[in-house]
Amino acid sequence: MRLIIQDNYELAAQWVANYIARKIILANPTPAKPFVLGLPTGSSPLGIYRNLINLHKAGKISFQNVVTFNMDEYVGIPKDHPQSYYTFMWENFFGHIDIKPENANILNGNAPDIKAECQAYEDKIKAVGGIDLFLGGIGPDGHLAFNEPGSSLASRTRDKELNYDTKVANSRFFDNDISKVPSSSLTVGIATVMDAKEVVIIVNGYNKARALQHAVEEGVNHMWTISALQLHPKGMIVCDEPATYELKVGTYKHFKSIEENNLNPDNLLISNLVW
Ligand code: GLP
Repeated sequence: MRLIIQDNYELAAQWVANYIARKIILANPTPAKPFVLGLPTGSSPLGIYRNLINLHKAGKISFQNVVTFNMDEYVGIPKDHPQSYYTFMWENFFGHIDIKPENANILNGNAPDIKAECQAYEDKIKAVGGIDLFLGGIGPDGHLAFNEPGSSLASRTRDKELNYDTKVANSRFFDNDISKVPSSSLTVGIATVMDAKEVVIIVNGYNKARALQHAVEEGVNHMWTISALQLHPKGMIVCDEPATYELKVGTYKHFKSIEENNLNPDNLLISNLVW
């Protein structure tokens, strides 16, 4: 696993956006062979989306031949609800780039047959050749997408109840009223994410420090579902300084020194090519 520690959130977001942009450009996608990108919602990826939009507006990157699959969606709120992940993605990203609407896949939380909806999502990912890069964020309890603590690390796309911690964390988007937060979601599974050719997770802020410590220093454990990343051949976490507060000094220094070149913003584009 690579752990890229950046001084602050802005630099971390910029690093990830440049990394993704570079991957798409190098893949030289076509309609027949698109670049397939897995995407999260939440506050963590917002800076990444802003940077990708800027790269697009500067003419450096096109999403014409990019197919996206979002990680998750709430169940029980309308698609056009201000807090649906559909609304979030169109307001914060898709609406500002040249992606074809039919290429932006988001689970339908109001599907009449939830099982069929989830199976169709898995099938569609397979049909386009799998996900090239899955970008993710995590919750303070280390959940990836809506794979709450105790979720199977072999899980696939399915419906999942939200736990109390997640409802409290997400209530900030629902007038700080926990009773307004949906209780259920549709989410890709941990195995769905781990099937991607590459996984990049953004972790920022002090409230994610415990989760980062478990992800990096502890064993693979279903109580911290992000820890499954340790089993991925190309797993990477990009974090800011506050997120590192629970890491051992030795762990911090180890990753800082092996990723030294990445800390210089001038090396960003070059280091993005290195694995
Ligand atoms: C939700 C989403 C996750 C996301 C997490 C963290 O629970 N289902 O995919 O990673 O929130 O959100 P934030 O980035 O706002 O901290």
